[in-house]
Amino acid sequence: MSKFWSRTVQEAEPYVPGEQPTETDIIKLNTNENPYPPSPKAIQAMEDSITSDLRKYPSPTAERLKAIIAEREHVTSDQVFVGNGSDEVLAFAFQAFFEPDQTIKMPAITYSFYPVYANLYDIPFEQVPLNDDLSIQVDGLKQSVGGVIFPNPNAPTGLALSLSDVESIVQANPAQVVIVDEAYVEFGAESAVALTTQYPNLLVTKTLSKSHALAGMRIGYAIGHTGLIEGLERIKNSFNSYTMNRVSLAGAEEALADDAYYDQVLSDIVVTRDWVTERLKGLGFWVSNSKANFLFVQPVGIEADVLYNELKAQGIYIRYFNKPGLTGFVRISIGTDDEMTKLIDAIENMV
Ligand SMILES: Cc1ncc(COP(=O)(O)O)c(C=O)c1O
Repeated sequence: MSKFWSRTVQEAEPYVPGEQPTETDIIKLNTNENPYPPSPKAIQAMEDSITSDLRKYPSPTAERLKAIIAEREHVTSDQVFVGNGSDEVLAFAFQAFFEPDQTIKMPAITYSFYPVYANLYDIPFEQVPLNDDLSIQVDGLKQSVGGVIFPNPNAPTGLALSLSDVESIVQANPAQVVIVDEAYVEFGAESAVALTTQYPNLLVTKTLSKSHALAGMRIGYAIGHTGLIEGLERIKNSFNSYTMNRVSLAGAEEALADDAYYDQVLSDIVVTRDWVTERLKGLGFWVSNSKANFLFVQPVGIEADVLYNELKAQGIYIRYFNKPGLTGFVRISIGTDDEMTKLIDAIENMV
């Protein structure tokens, strides 16, 4: 606390990221990072980008990266916005499309950065309860006053909505912006990007942090109607014209060109996710039918916080959320087969 704080700072309720321990001999399954390295071609491109050219600013428009994303997503470059991680893209979108006097809707259990942005920008929000099976209540997200945001798959449950459910939410909010956060879509859910050409109120955000193992480089993007993208550019250029650094741009461009490498990584993670799910279910635990690179798990025979603490004591970090509605669960990111075998062995010794 300082007497110099503005009212905004005084009233901010910042997001608390998962632990980033400094020890190296741990198994880190707490922040949904990719357990595999980025594409060797992306690493090479980033190394090659470390030259005396770093004295110069990067491209403020990131036109090359936008063109590559546009081609992959079957849209035009002016339907693409890129940013310093999808967190930044989402923060800009809250400011660009939501209003301080119009209540937006989001699921009650979801990515906990959304209420943080809403509070920061003074945007009122309604938290729509999940269904009993923890899926998103589709009808509850319809007819909003100020807009809608939800992840697909949802975090931390990993449960995905069908494309037709997503479309029904977009259709039922024709005068509001609907943001679909697809941070984890590449692990098995259906993307809504194709709908953006049809619905001018739909913004889809994605990230290279999870699927492309580049969390450390901070690369996110949004796809939407040119009007929405222009709105995001206006916010960005009122804040920082150079959000994407030269090294990240070089890495992102190569990573997105290396489908052969990433197809293998994604399919390995999905195979691991599926066997870990079965093993945990075999212990009597409830496990979500996750379409993401993490599992939402309700342990049985051991309290969730005890499980979290005991694993941590053994150097295995998972995520426990000490929040109403979540205290019975843990979230476990999918690591390598070796890491997940050690996790299962450790859990089996506890229950
Ligand atoms: C649902 C969701 N959206 C967005 C993000 C942000 O990802 P990044 O800023 O690394 O692109 C995360 C990160 O954990 C997430 O879980």
